[in-house]
Amino acid sequence: MKKGTKKYYVETYGCQMNKYDSELVAGILNQHGYHQVRSAQESDLVLVNTCSVRQHAENRVFGRLDALRLLKLKHPDLIIGVLGCMAVRLQDELLTQKPFVNFVLGPDNYRKLPGLLSKLNNGSGQNQLKLAEFDNHEIYSELYPSRTSGISAWVAIMRGCNNFCSYCIVPYVRGRERSRLAKDIVAEVQQLVQENFVEVTLLGQNVNSYHNGDHDFADLIEMVANVPGIIRVRFATSHPKDLSEKLIDTIAGHPKICNHLHLPVQSGSDTILKLMNRKYTRSHYLKLIKTAREKIQDLGLYTDIIVGFPGETEKDFQDTLGLVRQVEFDGVFVFKYSPREGTAVYGLEETLTEQEKVKRLQTLNQIQDEITLRRNQQLIGTVQRILVEGASKKAKFNQYMGRTESNKIFVFDSNKKVDGSLLDVKVISAEGRTLFSELL
Ligand code: 5AD
Ligand code: SF4
Repeated sequence: MKKGTKKYYVETYGCQMNKYDSELVAGILNQHGYHQVRSAQESDLVLVNTCSVRQHAENRVFGRLDALRLLKLKHPDLIIGVLGCMAVRLQDELLTQKPFVNFVLGPDNYRKLPGLLSKLNNGSGQNQLKLAEFDNHEIYSELYPSRTSGISAWVAIMRGCNNFCSYCIVPYVRGRERSRLAKDIVAEVQQLVQENFVEVTLLGQNVNSYHNGDHDFADLIEMVANVPGIIRVRFATSHPKDLSEKLIDTIAGHPKICNHLHLPVQSGSDTILKLMNRKYTRSHYLKLIKTAREKIQDLGLYTDIIVGFPGETEKDFQDTLGLVRQVEFDGVFVFKYSPREGTAVYGLEETLTEQEKVKRLQTLNQIQDEITLRRNQQLIGTVQRILVEGASKKAKFNQYMGRTESNKIFVFDSNKKVDGSLLDVKVISAEGRTLFSELL
């Protein structure tokens, strides 16, 4: 890196935890005299924070790295670093295959970034470095992420995962579960209020298994919701085995905890759930949903489903479709099974062709799209309270976007600037996943 120039650019792939980690890394670099810029072209250091959850996510990163290679041909001093899950999963392989990458840095090593950069700069002759080992105590609790201002902030409350679902790479790239102290999390949320954030989303790979000292997740979420100035609290992603009755009661009983649950079911077939090592059955999941819906008013319910798991028969798939029809989720994220080396089912023969997997994905998406639309159409004419997040993405002039507590997306016109306001709107129409509305 050229002396005196310390401009960095961060690009993030994958989940919300990765987005949070990028903010954490930005916080670390800002404290060491670097400053963030808006494009790779303007920067001296490009950080690519990566995801390994499916092959498709990794392929996107490989493509992006090849584009950065071209940029480096024009700017030979450019430093390129790979962060996140691929840094751990691939390590030397990545450095060999992409010799223009200067370093790989795993999720437990971010505080070592400034030291690593000065090593690369000190002319020691090393132009590729690797720091990818686990540190089962690293929770970055005293570090403060550098967030772009807004109304909604992510706060990681735990890291890692102990579940070992048979298809999932996360425990192998993010290490064992560890939780931050509740008082540190509350202090971070108090600081966020000072910075005008009004909504927080508590994050963890398995957020509801949070545990530290005497506090479980239900205790923690209540403490966060009680921070003065906080209007809404959400959380992601939860595992059905850790959705306690106490947590359901806490969500139901606290006006600031959103009636929004992202509860991945993954499959509607008991045979597949067992092969996935999910530790619950279809009927247990359905019971949980029933209790949650009885207790939490107007619950917005979202899930993840994997299609094409090895051995998934037509009957298993029909069981999943049956569950989706029965539950009527507000939204479903559907993924094609992607074999991940090192996971328990990696060696299992895939029983479906790519085309068959695509077909199942499309069938499931189509059924859910109809359900989503029907559920949204039922809201036409009703009045909903939304928190305004800012200009609508496909921004027409004066068009704003907001969400209900249940995580439904609303678009409406306003002549006044209304970012961050809680407003009542009347629903006019539903299109796809978006609801169009007018201000009352
Ligand atoms: N293949 C496909 N989807 C996966 N997920 C996790 N691992 C895999 C895999 N190997 C999905 C799960 C999880 C979401 C984040 O990604 O549905 O909930
Ligand atoms: Fe991707 Fe999972 Fe890693 Fe998040 S934790 S970045 S989804 S592999």
